[in-house]
Amino acid sequence: MAAEKVYRASTTAPVNIAVVKYWGKRDPKLNLPTNSSLSVTLSQADLRTLTTASCSASYSAAEGDSLILNGEPSDVAGARTQACFRELRTRRAALEAADPSLPKLSTMPVHLVSENNFPTAAGLASSAAGFAALVRAIANLYELPASPSELSKIARQGSGSACRSLFGGYVAWRMGSEADGSDSLADQVAEAAHWPDMRALVLVVSAAKKGVSSTSGMQQTVATSGLFQERISKVVPQNMDLMEKAIKERDFPAFAEVTMRDSNSFHATCADTYPPIFYMNDVSKAAIRAVEAINAAAGRTVAAYTFDAGPNAVIYYLEKDTEAVVGTIHNVLGDIDGWKPAAIEGLKSTVSLDEGV
Ligand code: ADP
Ligand code: DP6
Ligand code: CO
Repeated sequence: MAAEKVYRASTTAPVNIAVVKYWGKRDPKLNLPTNSSLSVTLSQADLRTLTTASCSASYSAAEGDSLILNGEPSDVAGARTQACFRELRTRRAALEAADPSLPKLSTMPVHLVSENNFPTAAGLASSAAGFAALVRAIANLYELPASPSELSKIARQGSGSACRSLFGGYVAWRMGSEADGSDSLADQVAEAAHWPDMRALVLVVSAAKKGVSSTSGMQQTVATSGLFQERISKVVPQNMDLMEKAIKERDFPAFAEVTMRDSNSFHATCADTYPPIFYMNDVSKAAIRAVEAINAAAGRTVAAYTFDAGPNAVIYYLEKDTEAVVGTIHNVLGDIDGWKPAAIEGLKSTVSLDEGV
């Protein structure tokens, strides 16, 4: 008998770093957020996930689906990963039902092999690139005719921020209002080419896995922070409006101010969580001061910091201000204890934004 065929598809997916942050779930099961959010998709030339999905009738049904993440076996039994598999299989099964000549891939175990070329679970959006790549790789394997919007709804169920990595450029995740999550998905606010001189400098302060995962941290915040209510009802809706306007008008000072204020507001709700959660460390705070000094020296806003759920900084700036921003960051932070090794080994100037997977 001929050996069973192995079907295979690979994809890469980019990281996105939010400038208006998602933090809070109104429905943890469907992964529906308490607020809309907006992010910038970074270049895959610098930070990316590479995922290969394969399936075969020869794969052990008893062992089932599997994932090797960065060379180590990783759990796929979690409800959120299972939801992605289920959604994708259901769509493939519908294709197979409509065309009986198609191979029955939906009945075969899926093996995934994935690698992030940047720190995992360290506040650099590995779950975003990771689940966007997982969903896209399986959709390619199954030859699904799904649009990026439809895939974003599936990726959202794996990790909320992942829905935004299906698009390039400037991307909003609309929180939606339907109980079944059918209107909670990402859309592109502007393509990367709309503001082609935007740059992001990624400062790897620590590559260590964070103490409190995003999933757990935001649920603690929702449950215990009073400040959080103010954030989701007033601060974020206003920041979303201001940010979309700043992007449409390519107004860097406005983009920068909202970015920094929203990062500060998000970390304030973490500090207001009980017991408090601290994602930033002293080096992160030094990066904030360095950005303030750069802006003061320039006499205008040329740089904007933002921090996800981790100590690592992302600094947005325009290409024409590279020397003022990147040069000064090197000079200032190169002298701080604990910064130097990371700054030299981990400092990445991501040269452009990306058009998505
Ligand atoms: P981050 O700040 O890096 O997004 P999170 O706490 O949100 O950190 O999520 C980290 C988790 O995301 C990992 O523990 C892992 O479960 C999942 N993840 C990261 N990369 C991948 C990947 N390439 N494929 C599948 N899952 C991934
Ligand atoms: C601070 O998308 O990682 O990076 O949906 O539980 O997987 P889960 O959380 P995740 O949270 C990201 C939080 C953030 C802000 C953002 O990316 O918008
Ligand atoms: Co994440």
